[in-house]
Amino acid sequence: MNLTEKEQRMLDGEEGYAVRKSMEILVALGDIYGAESLIKVGSVQVAGVSYHNLGDAGLEFLNELAKDGKVKVLTTLNPAGMDLENWRQLGISEEFAQKQNLVIDAFRKMGILISCTCTPYLIGNLPRYGEHIAWSESSAVTFANSVIGARTNREGGPSALAAAFVGKTPCYGLHLNENRAPDIHVQVNAKLAKLSDWGALGYSIGKKAENKIPYITGIKDTELDELKSFCASVVTYGSKPLFYMKGITPASESYSPPQETVTIEDKDLKEAYENINDEVTDIDFVCVGCPHCSIKEIAQIAELLKDKRIAANTELWVATSRTAKQLADKRGYTEIIELAGGKFACDTCMAVAPLKGRFKALATTSAKGCFYSRQNNMKTKMGGLDECIEAAVTGKWS
Ligand code: F3S
Repeated sequence: MNLTEKEQRMLDGEEGYAVRKSMEILVALGDIYGAESLIKVGSVQVAGVSYHNLGDAGLEFLNELAKDGKVKVLTTLNPAGMDLENWRQLGISEEFAQKQNLVIDAFRKMGILISCTCTPYLIGNLPRYGEHIAWSESSAVTFANSVIGARTNREGGPSALAAAFVGKTPCYGLHLNENRAPDIHVQVNAKLAKLSDWGALGYSIGKKAENKIPYITGIKDTELDELKSFCASVVTYGSKPLFYMKGITPASESYSPPQETVTIEDKDLKEAYENINDEVTDIDFVCVGCPHCSIKEIAQIAELLKDKRIAANTELWVATSRTAKQLADKRGYTEIIELAGGKFACDTCMAVAPLKGRFKALATTSAKGCFYSRQNNMKTKMGGLDECIEAAVTGKWS
C-alpha cells in the first residue's frame, strides 16, 4: 500500500503507541485486501464494547491504546453489555458491571462519545451521501451503505478503532465504485404487513442473495423503522452489507436490475417465520429494539401497554439509545412503560448482554434478535409489536 510521508511517520511511531499500532492494523488490512492507499473517514462506529465479548484480554488491549490514543474523528460506540446507569434493574452482576465500566472508561479516555447504540444515525452520527466512514456493527453498516448512501466496509472492532485514531481507513471493498454495483435482482411480490415481516423479508433475501448485493424491486413504500429492521436481518442471514431498493434508497435509479433474478413470494416469508420461530408457548423474555428502538417505536409500545401489566414471570426489555430514552422520559412514554412493569435497556441489547441461562423463551420483532438469542440457548418467537406486547402481558405466545 502506498503511504504518504505523514502516514509513514505515523507507522514509524511519531504520534505514539496507539497511532503506530493502528497504522500497523490498517496497513496489514490494506495489504490483505489489495488497497492502494488510505482514505479519510468522516466518522467511526466501534463494535466490541461489551465486556461479555471482550473479556480481560480485550480490556487490556483497550487500556494499552487508551494510554496515549485520542480519536481524530467523530467516533460512537455500539451497545455495551449493560445499561450503564440501571444495570442492577436488568439483573447484571456487580462483578460484570465493574469490568464493563472499565471498558467504558478506556473508550472515554480515547475521546469517544459514549453513545452505545447500533442506531448512531438516529442520535447524531449521521454521515452524508457518498461519505467514507468506518463503521462496525452490521445493521448500522448496512443502513449507512444502503439507506444513507455512505461508504463503509463492515469493520471489526480493532480496525474501526484504528481508523478512529488515524482518521483514515484502507480504500478497498465497498469504498470503491466497482464493488458497489448490484449483482442480483430481487423482485418482491410478498405482502409486508407488520414490522417483523421486514425481518422475514431480510431473512429470505439474505438466504437467496448469498453474499451478493441485492437490487430490490416491488416495494412501493416503507418507513425508517422497517428499513432498519430489514438492514439488520438481510446482512445477518446472508447478503453483503449493501442493497438497493428501487425508488427508495439513494443511487437505486442509477442501476438497472441485474439479470440474475429471484422472487420473494408470501410463501418465502412464511418459510422464514417457520425457520426463525421455535415450538414454544410460554414466554419469559420479550425484547423489542433490535436495532435499537426509535422514539416512534417507543411511543407505539407505550400506547400498546396503557393500563396493562407485564405477566409475573415475564420480563419486557425496551432496548434503545439513551438519547431516545431521554425523549421518551419527556413525552411520558417511560412512565407508562415502567408502570406496566416494562424495563428500559439503554446502551445494551439482547445479543451483547450476558443473558445465557437467564431466559428460556424470547418473543421479539427482530429476526436478527432471534438469531443471536438462539446462540444464548433461548427458544424464539418473532412477530409484530402488538404480538410481542401481548406475549409480555400474558406470558404466552398465541
Ligand atoms: Fe443492535 Fe444488538 Fe440488534 S447491536 S442490531 S440491538 S443485536
